[in-house]
Amino acid sequence: MTPLTPDEIPLMREACVLAADTLAYLGKNLRAGQSTEELDRLAYEYIMDHQAVPAPLNYKGFPKSICTSVNDCICHGVPSSEVLKEGDVINIDVTCLKDGFFGDTSRTFFIGEVSDRAKALTQCAWDSMMKGIEAIRPLGHVGDIGFAISKYAGRRGFYPVRNIGGHGIGKVFHEEPFVPSFGKKGKGEVLQPWACITVEPMINETSAPIREFDIPNSEIKYYHTSDKSLSAQFEHTVLISDEAYEILTLPSTEE
Ligand code: MF3
Ligand code: CO
Ligand code: CO
Repeated sequence: MTPLTPDEIPLMREACVLAADTLAYLGKNLRAGQSTEELDRLAYEYIMDHQAVPAPLNYKGFPKSICTSVNDCICHGVPSSEVLKEGDVINIDVTCLKDGFFGDTSRTFFIGEVSDRAKALTQCAWDSMMKGIEAIRPLGHVGDIGFAISKYAGRRGFYPVRNIGGHGIGKVFHEEPFVPSFGKKGKGEVLQPWACITVEPMINETSAPIREFDIPNSEIKYYHTSDKSLSAQFEHTVLISDEAYEILTLPSTEE
């Protein structure tokens, strides 16, 4: 992880707010009958209109501007002609590259009315992310975050994904450390003041193994639950400060 200088922090803030604003914009424009490709186009246009670039586009060969992961898709779903229908849950993951800095955020949305089980899982994914974030201390450890996430999700009877997780972020999209959704307090890499990480637990409905799929001409893989059960996820980019932490991917208040 690379601490930011005082001059760099405002630029990082801008990239993160734009990512959050993009996600809020997509949320407002989300409806049954729409394809995930239409969401991708809305995201591309919104981000380009704000003097930034959608970071996933052409990243390691990824073909689209956002990730759209529907129902049993765990992450890195590729926008397509797949049409959203009432009762779906969809994670939309937005990363903006603005003035040399990356802001990365995602959330799980409901299409119309969803099952109680989907609501409980999605609430658990949000709460697990917040528990993970609240465990951040400067000079603490990534294991503190993972411990908090897995303890919370486990108590609710859900299953955090172990081999995919958060990451350092700043002038690069993905850097050390890996931020796991499991772990032991006081273990793992040290959290450096003024560096940024993402906290992005993926929470599954069952303990079924996850399945990895190739994306043509890309190093990026996408993942599904092997038993078609649901998966939900939220992601924030967080600045570690000298006293605590600050969530950077909050939307601006102006409309
Ligand atoms: N935004 C994702 C993350 O949270 C990464 C997407 S990489 C892509 O780290 F290539 F799949 F877009
Ligand atoms: Co991320
Ligand atoms: Co992301």
